[in-house]
Amino acid sequence: MGLEFLLGVGVVTALNTVLALLLVLAERFLADYGPCTLALNGEKKITVAGGRDLLATLKDQGVFIPSACGGRGSCGLCKVTVLNGGAPLATELPWLKPDEIARHIRLACQVRVKHDLSLQLPPQWLEIRQYRTTVSSLRDLTHDIKEVRLRLVDPPEIEFKAGQFIQFEVPPYERSDETVYRAYSIASPPSAKNEIELEIRYVPNGICTTYVHRHLRLGDPVTINGPYGDFTLRPGEREIIAIAGGSGMAPLKSILLDMAEKEIARRIRYFFGARALRDLFLLEEMKTLEQRIPGFEFIPALSKPDPMDAWNGETGLVTDVAARYLPDASEAEAYLCGSSFLIQAAIKMLTSKGMPRERIYFDDFG
Ligand SMILES: Cc1cc2nc3c(=O)[nH]c(=O)nc-3n(C[C@H](O)[C@H](O)[C@H](O)COP(=O)(O)OP(=O)(O)OC[C@H]3O[C@@H](n4cnc5c(N)ncnc54)[C@H](O)[C@@H]3O)c2cc1C
Ligand code: FES
Repeated sequence: MGLEFLLGVGVVTALNTVLALLLVLAERFLADYGPCTLALNGEKKITVAGGRDLLATLKDQGVFIPSACGGRGSCGLCKVTVLNGGAPLATELPWLKPDEIARHIRLACQVRVKHDLSLQLPPQWLEIRQYRTTVSSLRDLTHDIKEVRLRLVDPPEIEFKAGQFIQFEVPPYERSDETVYRAYSIASPPSAKNEIELEIRYVPNGICTTYVHRHLRLGDPVTINGPYGDFTLRPGEREIIAIAGGSGMAPLKSILLDMAEKEIARRIRYFFGARALRDLFLLEEMKTLEQRIPGFEFIPALSKPDPMDAWNGETGLVTDVAARYLPDASEAEAYLCGSSFLIQAAIKMLTSKGMPRERIYFDDFG
């Protein structure tokens, strides 16, 4: 009896699995949704071929949605309001808060265009453009961080706010048989409109960073789109606490250069975390900025200095070092940039020092 029952369950499960597989294959290879209309903000209407995801479909139409994972459903940045898009998929739920679901927000990379859709996008997204650039300089900042300068070709200038990021297009190459996009913060100031600087840290086996570190050459063409993001300086007089690690330096460098150019004088303490001396970079630039911005102090901290480093600066995790400097952070505001681990640790530390959560701004690089 028990064996028969188990066999029955096994057969039903196997049949269900085969059926689900057939449905997925039919959806992929047979479904033809024909032309669909996308209505943007109740005004602009575009006709597209149905069948692909909304993120890629819009990109082909020159409408760019923020994304850092290139459509893999792992960054949660591509949120759009799809008024008639139905319920979110299981893959979207980790990224959507209950109030966002109630407001019909979906992840554009997870929505398949199968019928006419009515979309609400922030108007500034319609200004986002694609740019053709060429590599004008490549420089090693550390053993695993490269500075990449891109000269704008078409259009020849880009407008952005200090702290924003672009998406870098990686063409198919030996590690990837399709075009992929990754997010990189702009490290140069907005005044430099015809050339932007990126700081890209090598991630072992990473598609984009392997391309940049091992294949990209001077003069190569690179397509980017942007700018994106709201990791920008809020106006006001409050003291600024900045905490970053590794390539998290990039947007803060842009913000600091912009402040220096605009002669914005605010008290800023910038805690920068690195493992050992070989992971520190831009020390001279930071010293120069200390001269240019009254109230700016750069505090590098090494978590595991090498005995050969002869380091006599701060040691320990950068968040622990910052905690030692900050008995009370209730009146300040914070800008954090780097790995998720650093961001979470910094938020915990700053709120424990009295900083309200809504005054903590961050870019989480993952
Ligand atoms: C808003 C934003 C701005 C960013 N700005 C910068 C920047 O200025 N400079 C910069 O270097 N990076 C930045 N990043 C990270 C960047 O977008 C990529 O995620 C990173 O460069 C890895 O891309 P990849 O294609 O090489 O790796 P992938 O092929 O995407 O990943 C390969 C493997 O590495 C893991 N992985 C992915 N990212 C990381 C990471 N950062 N650290 C450790 N493991 C990882 C993945 O889980 C995967 O297993 C930013 C991210 C965001 C969201
Ligand atoms: S593009 Fe990253 S989750 Fe959609």
